Amino acid sequence: MSDPTIQRRLILERRPQGTVTNEDVVLHEALVDSPGDGQILIRNHFLSIDPAIRDWMSERPSYLPPIRIGDPVRSTVIGQVVESRVSRFRPGQLVVGIGGWEEYSVADAGQFSLVELKPGDEAQHYLSIYGAVGLTPYFGLLEVGKPKPGETVLVSAAAGAVGSLVGQIAKIKGCRAVGIAGSDEKCRWIVEDLGFDAAINYRTETDMVASIARACPQGVDVYFDNVGGQILDATLLNLNKDARVVFCGAISSYNSTEPVPGPYNFWQILARSATIEGYLVSDYLDQFPQGIAQMREWVGTGRLQFREQVIDGLENTLDAFNLLFEGRNEGKLMVRVAP
Ligand SMILES: NC(=O)c1ccc[n+]([C@@H]2O[C@H](COP(=O)([O-])OP(=O)(O)OC[C@H]3O[C@@H](n4cnc5c(N)ncnc54)[C@H](OP(=O)(O)O)[C@@H]3O)[C@@H](O)[C@H]2O)c1
Repeated sequence: MSDPTIQRRLILERRPQGTVTNEDVVLHEALVDSPGDGQILIRNHFLSIDPAIRDWMSERPSYLPPIRIGDPVRSTVIGQVVESRVSRFRPGQLVVGIGGWEEYSVADAGQFSLVELKPGDEAQHYLSIYGAVGLTPYFGLLEVGKPKPGETVLVSAAAGAVGSLVGQIAKIKGCRAVGIAGSDEKCRWIVEDLGFDAAINYRTETDMVASIARACPQGVDVYFDNVGGQILDATLLNLNKDARVVFCGAISSYNSTEPVPGPYNFWQILARSATIEGYLVSDYLDQFPQGIAQMREWVGTGRLQFREQVIDGLENTLDAFNLLFEGRNEGKLMVRVAP
């Protein structure tokens, strides 16, 4: 590889209010840093574009510290080691871990894992189906939702990266799978191609409580919540006794500029002896290898389908990111910054 000295990176210049703009996140040229002891220099190939990054841009207390003003936007990346100051990694190896929206990342080696491609794998699969995004539905549904055969599993953002896998895993486990998504085309896709039993377009339905009741005539046993807000509220009124709510995300509020009200129907958790559990896929890090092995088997036998959307060019990263909040991404969204 030629000696890299200058790179482009997307820097968080100020905390966004609402939708992130190119005044909040600005493209800069910078010198490529050298790795210190215990660090590696990575030539990034793909950047992961995730809703949670919006949370990291704010000052709210969260599971990771806020991105500092002046730092590149933090994201999971996959790329090739260029220089290593640890014995565990060698130049040329493919690695995945926490880097940034930049062409090169310097990071502590402990933040990265080696990727060993198996026949049929492509590098970007380790940011999607075999990465945290593929494992989020796997552990969230099975370990937190604990679905039993015959139960009804409802999932929001159902045509998205996480949601589309939740419904398919629910079907594999013998459940009735119902998805909520933002267009008729998405609803058709999850029912006709992915095998969900029913779908609800929340953008055209005027009474979500009644729509969920129609699509889930036996009530909801597991609600896998990716969006929060009004859809969560409508679902709470449809829960069965002992239902489980997997609190995985709340994308409807990530760009909010006003305080977000709690669920108005929260009392239903008590009334139905239900549980609601906050869930982070990183809590299952030590079980990732088993999870990947199971996902690989399901993909190999055609029981799981997944969609990836790759956008080229670091300069297009912010536009790509905003697609998530407009419902215009099609599957797991990534930006390719090197071939
Ligand atoms: N807890 C964890 O460990 C963990 C890990 C990964 C992801 N997550 C969470 O999982 C959720 C899905 O993430 P993903 O990466 O799979 O993204 P995604 O579902 O592929 O994309 C986001 C989707 O959210 C929907 N959406 C956007 N704004 C919305 C709104 N105001 N109301 C309802 N739906 C809205 C859009 O679909 P529609 O067209 O259907 O509106 C959009 O396509 C996010 O909340 C994310 O933070 C959590």
